[in-house]
Amino acid sequence: MNSTLILGLQWGDEGKGKIVDALCKEGSLVCRFQGGHNAGHTIKVGGSQKVLHLIPSGIMHASSNCIIGNGVVISLPALNEEIEMLSNSGISVKNRLHISNDCPLILPTHIVIDQVRDKHEGIGTTGRGIGPAYEDKVGRRSLKFRDLADLELHKSKISELVKYHNQLLTKIYGSTPIDIDLVIEELTSFRKLQTNFGCDTYKILHKSIEEKKEIIFEGAQGSMLDIDHGTYPYVTSSSTTAGGVSSGLGIGPKQINKIMGITKAYSTRVGEGPFPTELFDADGASLAKIGHEFGATTGRPRRCGWLDLHALKKIIFINSVTELCITKLDVMDSFKSIKVCIDYEDGKPIYETFQGWLEEISEIKKFENLPIPAQKFISYIEDYLKVPVTVVSVGPDRDQTVHK
Ligand code: GDP
Ligand code: IMO
Ligand code: MG
Repeated sequence: MNSTLILGLQWGDEGKGKIVDALCKEGSLVCRFQGGHNAGHTIKVGGSQKVLHLIPSGIMHASSNCIIGNGVVISLPALNEEIEMLSNSGISVKNRLHISNDCPLILPTHIVIDQVRDKHEGIGTTGRGIGPAYEDKVGRRSLKFRDLADLELHKSKISELVKYHNQLLTKIYGSTPIDIDLVIEELTSFRKLQTNFGCDTYKILHKSIEEKKEIIFEGAQGSMLDIDHGTYPYVTSSSTTAGGVSSGLGIGPKQINKIMGITKAYSTRVGEGPFPTELFDADGASLAKIGHEFGATTGRPRRCGWLDLHALKKIIFINSVTELCITKLDVMDSFKSIKVCIDYEDGKPIYETFQGWLEEISEIKKFENLPIPAQKFISYIEDYLKVPVTVVSVGPDRDQTVHK
């Protein structure tokens, strides 16, 4: 058995899409287990770039198969748009994409509730309806992917759900209700997605495990956005940590062999919430500019700061991380000195300072060819976190991946 969980250890956008694509082999099975189209995973191959929101990043390899597990919440228009985007660039998802019939659906009402409510609450959500959709799942009111097979049968459930949403919109948030016919129309127009892709994904996954196929579990968001272990309430509404894999796909934790945690060489965050190592100076502006730190889903500027090893230590334990991948190391190329947070005193970060390498590393293919200061920086991270770094990313392209 050869399965790897690829997880973001920070607040998302660590480069999960790039690394899943880079590590994906011919014939691999790549599975999403949580989140929805709040994710934006960027993949660059030979100069051509794609951003995936729902479909696992393994889809870029023609012989791979992909699963969207029961833990993912699905927006039908977003799914349809992504399938069309891929198809327009010659990537077929037919017989390669398998979607759990147990996935809860994101309805147009969820999106409006999310957006209206965030104006009051100020979490800075992606406005994709993720939180309200998960609320309905836990509240046992969700419409599921399988329900698209017989909308007539579920008419009263849909009607009750939309009525409930409209009560929230009008009575609590002073907003306008959504016409139920619009909701039914959307569901009806995308019914074919269930016919084409809906299935019992457990069977495929369990068979792949039995056949010892290469499996990648692709995390979305990051551990510090986890509903239980993140910076609550400034979090997303799913289990983004390793624990989410079992429930989000229907497999036991022993089926996960390797757990690769991804961290940028610095930190970023989109939306509101605590960020102790955030920079408001020229270094922060340089990280944002050189790292092109704009959200892949909403286009919002990402807040930037130094790497927080102290926070990562706890996150590594929560996830049982067995190996690390450091991305965007090339972004530090022009920094004279680089800081990492190693502790806190009275809530303020204490930093260790490293000498920069002041040379371009984006073409380097072998770890031993990295400049000595870059190697020292990585060794320090390994020693501090007590986890080996096995992959270093030196650019957005699939090829710009250094194995240690
Ligand atoms: P994800 O959500 O974790 O998949 O990450 P995003 O795609 O949202 O954000 C990562 C961004 O950094 C994307 O624009 C990637 O193309 C880019 N990227 C990934 N790895 C590297 C790297 O090593 N160096 C540089 N310069 N860019 C990278
Ligand atoms: P990927 O998979 C970065 C953030 C939002 C907001 C909070 C809650 O690309 O790393 P939500 O819409 O989920 O209710 O918003 O979570 N957020 C992300 N930040 N990358 C993501 O995904 C994110 N998905 C959600 O900005 O702060
Ligand atoms: Mg992203």
